[in-house]
Amino acid sequence: MGRLTRRDFLTTAGSTGLLVSTSKLGRAFGSSRESTKATVAFDQLDPRKNSNFNNALFVPSETGTFGLFEPSSDFTITAREITRDLILGRATKLWVYHVEQAGKSYFNPIFRVRRGDSFRATLQNQLSEQTIIHWHGLSVDWRNDGHPSYAIGGGSAYEYGFTVENRAATYWYHPHPHGITGKQTFYGLAGLFIVEDENEMNLTQALDLNFGETDIPLILQDRLFDDDGRLEYTPNRRDWLMGYLGDVMLVNLTPKPSLDVSTRIYRLRVLNGSNARIYRLAFSRGSDQLPFYVIGTDGGLLDRSYRATEVFLAPAERVDLLLDLRSLQPGDVVFLRSLDFNPMEREGSGGLGSSSLMNGEKLYLLRLNIARRVIYDLAVPLNLSQITPLSTGGAAKRRFELSTDRLRWFINGATFKMDQYPVSLRRNTVELWEVKNREMSMPHPMHLHGFQFQVLERADSPDWIKRLAVDKKGLLPTDKGWKDTVLLWPGERVTIAVDFSHNFLGEQIFLFHCHNLEHEDQGMMINYKVV
Ligand code: C2O
Ligand code: CU
Ligand code: CU
Repeated sequence: MGRLTRRDFLTTAGSTGLLVSTSKLGRAFGSSRESTKATVAFDQLDPRKNSNFNNALFVPSETGTFGLFEPSSDFTITAREITRDLILGRATKLWVYHVEQAGKSYFNPIFRVRRGDSFRATLQNQLSEQTIIHWHGLSVDWRNDGHPSYAIGGGSAYEYGFTVENRAATYWYHPHPHGITGKQTFYGLAGLFIVEDENEMNLTQALDLNFGETDIPLILQDRLFDDDGRLEYTPNRRDWLMGYLGDVMLVNLTPKPSLDVSTRIYRLRVLNGSNARIYRLAFSRGSDQLPFYVIGTDGGLLDRSYRATEVFLAPAERVDLLLDLRSLQPGDVVFLRSLDFNPMEREGSGGLGSSSLMNGEKLYLLRLNIARRVIYDLAVPLNLSQITPLSTGGAAKRRFELSTDRLRWFINGATFKMDQYPVSLRRNTVELWEVKNREMSMPHPMHLHGFQFQVLERADSPDWIKRLAVDKKGLLPTDKGWKDTVLLWPGERVTIAVDFSHNFLGEQIFLFHCHNLEHEDQGMMINYKVV
């Protein structure tokens, strides 16, 4: 689909691509779409239209895809290929993590554990290439972290064993073999890892939440399919530079999803599981934008909720939201959308990417049908958790700069080398990391392995980010909790504080990288050593 429409777009809209307005793009699309059979079929999936939202959203249940799996003993996770009817009745080959336990079968299971639990699993690689699992956001020793130097070949196995020390949050897991993380994630390998603790239980009770029913994870992924419904990962030069985008939106692997809801509070845990697409999330009813509450980020619950009408979510970030539907009536429809924004992608080296849908385009993601009226009079607790600011007095400051030569992106001018450690620091110290994104750049979601961090300051932000700031340091509600990934807009300077305390044996090697997966695979990543 991408190709047909893209070709038409090329001739219609000229070659600049990036600066073309949405309406122009829309017109280019409109004219091309009716002309071929394949396009007509795919037209039903156009995420810029609010029509055809009639596939029941895939919500996690006891088993199957995103089945809720509470590990109690050793088990095996097999990375393998399966075939699924994903879009329009075509058989799509997917790569998944498959678990079989006690007569049940899980695909990309949602692991749920309590803080302090131990987690033991064997990864069995049944793919025809190397892979390794990374537990994104969890603080584990580097042998368990999925560092690419631990990748195993097809037919091999790898054993994980660690104690879950992190606070409650929605973490996730995905492949991390160097150079092919983007491809493997795109083909389907990704799942959630939920940690629970007392604060979580309190919230669940206070709001009478039920996982899979009123507490719903939403994994946002844009994908590109060919005319036979095959996932198509064929980055061209421009995709490698800007990131690989899709033009079909999947939420929990459901295209054009819809969910029946009632007049009460819902908790939505949103993961941006896309390779490169950034979302500007909002809820709308007709032309009204509905307010919601931001209650959590990558590293779990905030200390309190923040009322918001929009929130940016970059690849790998999670945001935990409460949506209050009590003022609505049965029959009303609410859409979760991504509003349009200027992605400031100014380093384009010419040429167009594979997807016809650029970053920053307006999208419809999920349709919520208000189906029932219920009595619900619970209130959002004032205190959600405790976030103690790291004490940074005397902390050393380290600087990082994100730049490009228009072919790829660099951290401090360098490209990833497996056996080089540009940063070495002492365990049990707190450091300030100041990350500067150059003016002529694009947004980069920077991710730290090994430790969650706190965002201290955002400086030189673009206006629409400044406008959303909730304090004098330029922070957004989503900066107010523990984070493992932070989005840097062009020109921005973001300071984070990291406490490198741990009890792991020996030297640890972790990664700091951009989570635009094509950037990561192209080496926008460094090793750092904790000695
Ligand atoms: Cu989610 Cu190193 O990545
Ligand atoms: Cu990670
Ligand atoms: Cu990047």
